[in-house]
Amino acid sequence: MEDIREEMRFQALFSEKAKKMRASEIRELLKITQQPDIISFAGGLPNPLSFPRDIIRDLLCEVLQGEEAARALQYGSTEGIPQLREAILERYRRRWGYKGDLENILVTTGSQQGLDLLGRVFIGSRSHIIMEAPTYLGALNAFKFYEPVIHTIPMDNEGLIPELLEEKMKMLHRRGETPKFLYTVPNFHNPAGVTLSLKRRQALLEIAGEYDLLIVEDDPYGELRYEGEHLPPLVALDKDDRVIHLGTFSKILSPGLRLAWTIGPKEVIKKMILAQNRALTSARAPSHRPLL
Ligand SMILES: Cc1ncc(COP(=O)(O)O)c(C=O)c1O
Repeated sequence: MEDIREEMRFQALFSEKAKKMRASEIRELLKITQQPDIISFAGGLPNPLSFPRDIIRDLLCEVLQGEEAARALQYGSTEGIPQLREAILERYRRRWGYKGDLENILVTTGSQQGLDLLGRVFIGSRSHIIMEAPTYLGALNAFKFYEPVIHTIPMDNEGLIPELLEEKMKMLHRRGETPKFLYTVPNFHNPAGVTLSLKRRQALLEIAGEYDLLIVEDDPYGELRYEGEHLPPLVALDKDDRVIHLGTFSKILSPGLRLAWTIGPKEVIKKMILAQNRALTSARAPSHRPLL
């Protein structure tokens, strides 16, 4: 009774959007994973044994005992410190011949913030977006908050099926609808586990070019390949500035650091920085030394 009264007390004050919010399925999943007798594959949790505790401790000590200590603990610029952004870009340049510069990259509080910022800058109520089926729950939750119409594309063992994307685009085109973007997880898909083949990456970019479609490439797992050849990310294959690429330190370093990045067209990054500036979460400064 007390609980119900407590709930009613605030209901009338909550915004319409907040009233529609439900406990995220991810959080519910994570709660289950925290039970000691459960080994869960659902939450994408890295093995804690892989966290480089000693390296992180030594780096923190080095920074806090050095001349950069005050700067490291101070507010930072919204887009992240240039040294870290440059170090991330350099890796993409070296590995994939990526050509962009500092204006093409933004540091975020986890990829989850990147997904939310994309929702903020692109999705209005009834905007059309395209996702794979099945898709990553965290992206679905982030985008759903902005009330889009979601279209889905089935996958098989080689990932998203380009012919079905083309059919969908034709159908939307006929109806006069312009989808805001396609969201895809091309490497070791969560939850499907499949990887988009090189041939399909090229086919996907061709279709996107034909229909002037933006692609959001969410790639938290690309660096975790244990066998076979690494495949180039869509952002490196893209010739006409239509891929927004999300990368994160969560699976290769530690998710608790909440450190990730978005690489994309300058105009999109600029808008995301403006959106991030307005978010409470921007009161963070990823100021420790670049660890890449
Ligand atoms: C596909 C996908 N994108 C993004 C994330 C979240 O990454 P972050 O910890 O950087 O928010 C995950 C985590 O499981 C994921 O599986």
